[in-house]
Amino acid sequence: MADQPDAIALLKADHRKVEGLFEKFESARGKAQKESLAKEICTELTVHTIIEEEIFYPACKGKAEEDLLEESYVEHDGAKVLIAEIEAGGPDEAFYDAKVKVLSEQIQHHVKEEEKPAEGLFAQARKAELDMDALGQQMAARKQEVLAQIKAGGLPTPETRSFKGVELEHGEPVDEGAAPTGPDQASDRV
Ligand SMILES: [Fe+2]
Ligand SMILES: [Fe+2]
Repeated sequence: MADQPDAIALLKADHRKVEGLFEKFESARGKAQKESLAKEICTELTVHTIIEEEIFYPACKGKAEEDLLEESYVEHDGAKVLIAEIEAGGPDEAFYDAKVKVLSEQIQHHVKEEEKPAEGLFAQARKAELDMDALGQQMAARKQEVLAQIKAGGLPTPETRSFKGVELEHGEPVDEGAAPTGPDQASDRV
């Protein structure tokens, strides 16, 4: 269909949308507003990562630099950890705003790698002459499907593609007044 955005136009539109949401979050004051914006950010990013991982990235396989593609999966997985943290948390909790901020910074970096003129993943895919119209249609359809699932059943537990889901130990933040004692290493520091 002529008015259907092609793959890159669709993915770029998603990027712009989520950037706008992060900006709104930065200036939001009320907790309820922050929470609803954070939920919207998590939803947008979840759908976006799903359509890229299921459709766009596999289409790039063998057509774009393998290193760049692998880094894309790892960056997505890193974002999923923060998305899950934000989803499970709330604006009353410590580190909530910081998690959203760091997620926005990670996404900013990732989007740059995808959109970088000439060398980015999108530019490489364009150069390889992937069928962007067909991919755009597939992704638009999958997007509607995932959005409907989320509307009905909430956000799915993120599925990583590169992280192995190792267990981490949850420690409390270190109290600055209780720095570990031991030999004074100050002299070793420059
Ligand atoms: Fe993207
Ligand atoms: Fe991506």
